[in-house]
Amino acid sequence: MSLPETATPLVRTATGFFQAQALFAGIELGLFARICTAPATAEEIQREFGLHPKLTRDYLDSLVAMELLGRDGSSYRASPLTATYLDPRKPEYMGGFLAHNQRRLYPAWGNLPGFLRSGESLVKQLSEGDFTDGLYADPKRTRHFADAMDGYAVLLGRPLAEKYPWESVKSFTDLGGCRGLLTMRLAAAHGHLRGVTFDLPPLEPLFDELVEKEAGDSDLRDRVSYHAGSFFTDDLPDTQVYILGHVLHDWVDERRRALVNRAFEQLPPGGTLLVYDSMIDDERRDAAFGLLMSLNMAMISGSSEYTVSEGIGWMKEAGFEVEQPVALNELSTLLIGNKPV
Ligand SMILES: C[S@@+](CC[C@H](N)C(=O)[O-])C[C@H]1O[C@@H](n2cnc3c(N)ncnc32)[C@H](O)[C@@H]1O
Repeated sequence: MSLPETATPLVRTATGFFQAQALFAGIELGLFARICTAPATAEEIQREFGLHPKLTRDYLDSLVAMELLGRDGSSYRASPLTATYLDPRKPEYMGGFLAHNQRRLYPAWGNLPGFLRSGESLVKQLSEGDFTDGLYADPKRTRHFADAMDGYAVLLGRPLAEKYPWESVKSFTDLGGCRGLLTMRLAAAHGHLRGVTFDLPPLEPLFDELVEKEAGDSDLRDRVSYHAGSFFTDDLPDTQVYILGHVLHDWVDERRRALVNRAFEQLPPGGTLLVYDSMIDDERRDAAFGLLMSLNMAMISGSSEYTVSEGIGWMKEAGFEVEQPVALNELSTLLIGNKPV
């Protein structure tokens, strides 16, 4: 075996959190939101945010090197990445997801060795129930959670609207659709679609609030609705397509199978189940993000990600005919299962 020439990959991995924290700080301070409205000099930013004069330039220039800001002479501006994803006024704003990483996941990962020994998830440590119990008892946490889910699902709205032939269906339900962002984006992209968000009762007021914002003057309000219930026990809405997005990764195998089976039973003949998650490659070698996300899910909700073959297997067992997997983006895989006519 030849010796690696450099330890740089180790240094980069070990200090990767420098970049994560620089990004989180920009969100927490409101710096990206500010710079998206207009360029500013280091002096202006230092004054507006009360930063220390000795640190401001190094911080801003780090963000330039990370391609989060651009710099023209002494003026800093938003880079294309920041202008698209870190501007709260933009449709693909993902700040809620980044804040969730900072607030909840970063501290949890600090105890990885302890977790690897105990296997005790945060949910288990806090209660005997599932991850929604404590979460939805607190309105502030509920909103943070919905912001986090939206900040990630928002990246999938466009690819899902484009990569599935929605022209051939009239209605869909997003099972575990949180406060309905994906439902609204799909329905907005395809003017003939009616969409239902099916989720637990505490999220309904947040759906009502969001639809006001997303609909504007359009007819979206009339084409989307919220159906409160539990997907384990209640009847599912009568639509042609069900979506289970970032839902199977919340549960252990037995409950994932139960969900896929319920979807099969309640879809009409010819209906379709769409499943997306950060699935693991079948060789369990390449999908570093999916594998690490699997540990993350174990840590926060006692569950895991799963391989593409496992996902296809549960769908076939239920009775679906499963199409070739589709890459929604670099991090997410879509499985399409059709219920025979
Ligand atoms: C990880 S989030 C995924 C949200 C969204 N689908 C996405 O792609 O970001 C899981 C969702 O499942 C919902 N959920 C959990 N248990 C549920 C249940 N028993 N019935 C319906 N929804 C449930 C949660 O409230 C949450 O909104």
